[in-house]
Amino acid sequence: MCGIIGYIGDSEARPRLVAGLQRLEYRGYDSAGIALADEELSVFKQAGTVGDLDLPVETPQTCGIGHTRWSTHGKPTDANAHPHTDCSGRVAVVHNGIIANYDELRETLPDHRFRSETDTEVVAHLVEAELEAGVDLRAAVAAVVDRIEGSYALGVVAAGYDGIVAARRNSPLVVGHGADGNFIASDVTPLLEHTRSVSYLEDGDVAHLTRDGVTVHQDGALVDRAVTTVEWDADAAEKGGYDHYMLKEIHEQPTALRQAIAGRIDPIEGRVELDDLSLSDDFLAGIDEVQFVACGTSYHACMYGKQLLEELADVRATVEFASEYDVGSGRDPERTLVVGVSQSGETADTLRALRTASRSGIRTLGVTNTVGSTMARECDDVVYIRAGPEIGVAATKTFASQVVVLALFALTVAERRSELDATVGRELVEHLQDLPGAVQGALDRDDAIEEVAVAYAAGEAFFFIGRRFGNPVALEGALKLKEISYDHAEGFPAGELKHGPLALVTEGTPVLAILTDGTRPEETRNNVKEVQSRGAPVIALTGAGQDGDYEVGFEVPELGLLEPLVANVYLQLFAYHVADDKGRAIDRPRNLAKSVTVE
Ligand code: M6R
Repeated sequence: MCGIIGYIGDSEARPRLVAGLQRLEYRGYDSAGIALADEELSVFKQAGTVGDLDLPVETPQTCGIGHTRWSTHGKPTDANAHPHTDCSGRVAVVHNGIIANYDELRETLPDHRFRSETDTEVVAHLVEAELEAGVDLRAAVAAVVDRIEGSYALGVVAAGYDGIVAARRNSPLVVGHGADGNFIASDVTPLLEHTRSVSYLEDGDVAHLTRDGVTVHQDGALVDRAVTTVEWDADAAEKGGYDHYMLKEIHEQPTALRQAIAGRIDPIEGRVELDDLSLSDDFLAGIDEVQFVACGTSYHACMYGKQLLEELADVRATVEFASEYDVGSGRDPERTLVVGVSQSGETADTLRALRTASRSGIRTLGVTNTVGSTMARECDDVVYIRAGPEIGVAATKTFASQVVVLALFALTVAERRSELDATVGRELVEHLQDLPGAVQGALDRDDAIEEVAVAYAAGEAFFFIGRRFGNPVALEGALKLKEISYDHAEGFPAGELKHGPLALVTEGTPVLAILTDGTRPEETRNNVKEVQSRGAPVIALTGAGQDGDYEVGFEVPELGLLEPLVANVYLQLFAYHVADDKGRAIDRPRNLAKSVTVE
């Protein structure tokens, strides 16, 4: 939550900060601000989006920091917007994270005048106090972060001080090394138009950026943080002619899926080669249980992955909401694997769950889209889904890529445990290779889906039902619709409908039913009859050649256990067009942020 940016170099800072913040708005967009520093400090901040900022046309400063906020402590007001300043107005701070002991720290500063309700402002005053004691800005920030409990990515500037000081603990922060200056940012997307050379700060690092270079200290000692090249190009983070990032990302799925499997399936043998996985054969052969932990869409991907793993590898698997995870009793840590799945690799709940597992001696595997993320750095093993940047708050292409990577993982585990039925394995591999084409087939029907979405957009509520692999897709379909259209949408295992939710079904509640292969459609058809006899219109996603009496039907080509993934594309487009019809802020739905870095 919250995006931060900083620039120091030979060019004007303001346009770089503003453009960077616009790229980071998916992390939060309820207030924004920048601070520009030379001999004086100039701060511009207010409630609203980056575009609402009232900025002067002429700003000669070549050093500054910026922030786009997702509120935690204090409402989205002008006063609570970042950057926060000290009493003298000479120190400015932007922050992503939560300072848990801010009340306690505030009490140590009885003579300071606080202007906001935020946890962040105390940092500016603490830095002020350190500077008054005669140290320089880097030493001041280093001393302050030693006293902070909680999570932070910080950018700090001060009038008359040539440089930016940045620090991180449990919140992401990247340094960009550009030809005309150096940057800090919450992630790489705002950096791509300036540089692809980045270094990832580690917890406890304090970085000092000047025009000429970057130095990083950890516990007072100079440390080296490798400069790596980001593979994403700048175009990947643009809308590319689509009205919204979400629509672009839905349409990018065939490419994302090809990337997810590229080089991971032997084209001759059809065998899976997940080289990134370093778990030993002995460990996998002796494993008792795989616990998946994730949130939101990634949780739904795990539900899919759990079923694949159990079916293919004959190993017990569980899925837990990361925020609820505890190791539990009766497990042998040496024979358990925890798999965390996260697009961002920065979701606080998921990181907490993984750390909990790690502390109990359980091996952890991270499945993420984000190279250099906290998850990638902290897990024992990491496998990347390679979906490319996803900017829309609603996760779309990364869901499909996560499921595909979990399918590759399940095949690998099954093979290493000698549990893989050769025919089943070959068929799934073929289906993985055919999936991008099948998804393209669904995307080609966008106009027809739009027509249906507009026809049903006025529904009072929307229900999504499916069994087995159709269940996670039903939950995901409902999540997509509710988060971007703000309509009441619920997903249920189809068999559960009659145990309560059926009371909500009327003529005004369209039911979207997943009836493809891999979803026990013959049983779900009974549930379809139950809702139709209460007047509800049914939009059915069926397997090839499966007739039925539905108000609307879309057919998915034969793809075995992956058919529900194609059905999911129809649901994504349905959600998109309902929300678009209602004029919603699709890429930035109210109250949400892309990356949830608070528990
Ligand atoms: O980055 P992560 O995959 O860990 O994010 C998890 C959830 O916050 C995320 O999937 C969220 O539910 C999305 N808004 C869903 O579209």
